[in-house]
Amino acid sequence: MLTILVINSKGGSGKTTLTTNLASYYASKKYRTAIMDYDPQGSSLHWLRTRSGAFDIIHGANGAPAKGAVTLHSKSWIPTDTEVLIIDAPAGTTGLLLKDLVRKANYILIPVAPSPIDIHATADFIKDLYLIGGALTAKVKIAVVANRVRNRNSAVYASLEKFLASLRLPFLTSISDSEVYLQAVEQGVGVFEMDEMASNTERREIAPILKWLEGSFPNRYGVRAIDNLINLESSKQYAAYRVVRKI
Ligand SMILES: Nc1ncnc2c1ncn2[C@@H]1O[C@H](COP(=O)(O)OP(=O)(O)O)[C@@H](O)[C@H]1O
Ligand SMILES: [Mg+2]
Repeated sequence: MLTILVINSKGGSGKTTLTTNLASYYASKKYRTAIMDYDPQGSSLHWLRTRSGAFDIIHGANGAPAKGAVTLHSKSWIPTDTEVLIIDAPAGTTGLLLKDLVRKANYILIPVAPSPIDIHATADFIKDLYLIGGALTAKVKIAVVANRVRNRNSAVYASLEKFLASLRLPFLTSISDSEVYLQAVEQGVGVFEMDEMASNTERREIAPILKWLEGSFPNRYGVRAIDNLINLESSKQYAAYRVVRKI
């Protein structure tokens, strides 16, 4: 089973948005997919409840501790034949829960919004990820994604890029602030399940994440390579990713 942890201590950074879009993509490619929602707000599980039975099934598990309880070990269950598990972490995760989640993960995705407060909080969080979460010894792969980007020419976007470069972590893609993500939430789908023309930009934005994860997936069910699915070679973001990763 491949486990992808979507985490940032900052609320509203895009954890649930990434979780639901990745889960729906893999489910639509016929991977047995599950979401474990650790956030007491339960946004991913809410999205799952709005999902029509016409779309591929995603198993939902609630990992959030009951009100007033202390987390020691998570006690939520997913089907034993799950192939892809996406964990939606709550804001402010630290301590034992952070350790527990990092230990479970093969990949960690950190969404960050281009705002000074978010950049500052993410810098602190990444320190915690290594010092408290033990990410270095866990040998988990970590990457960062910019989310809710409105203007790539803005000063704050430049400072986000500078910050990401200083981290020496792969910066996979910039996801725009787009109505399409909101429509997807409303409909209980991901952008890869929407009309292709209407969600073309958003698909391209998510694609570098899929590409980063692609090496870990067996090419069963005749799933087309991501490069064929979307013309990534022409995508500026992927070109930047290639430079950072030297591929
Ligand atoms: N790229 C985006 N474009 C438009 N709205 C977004 C985008 N990313 C997130 N949102 C919206 O912002 C809010 C917070 O995002 P969410 O994914 O729930 O963050 P988190 O799970 O980190 O708290 C939600 O209402 C979500 O629909
Ligand atoms: Mg959330």
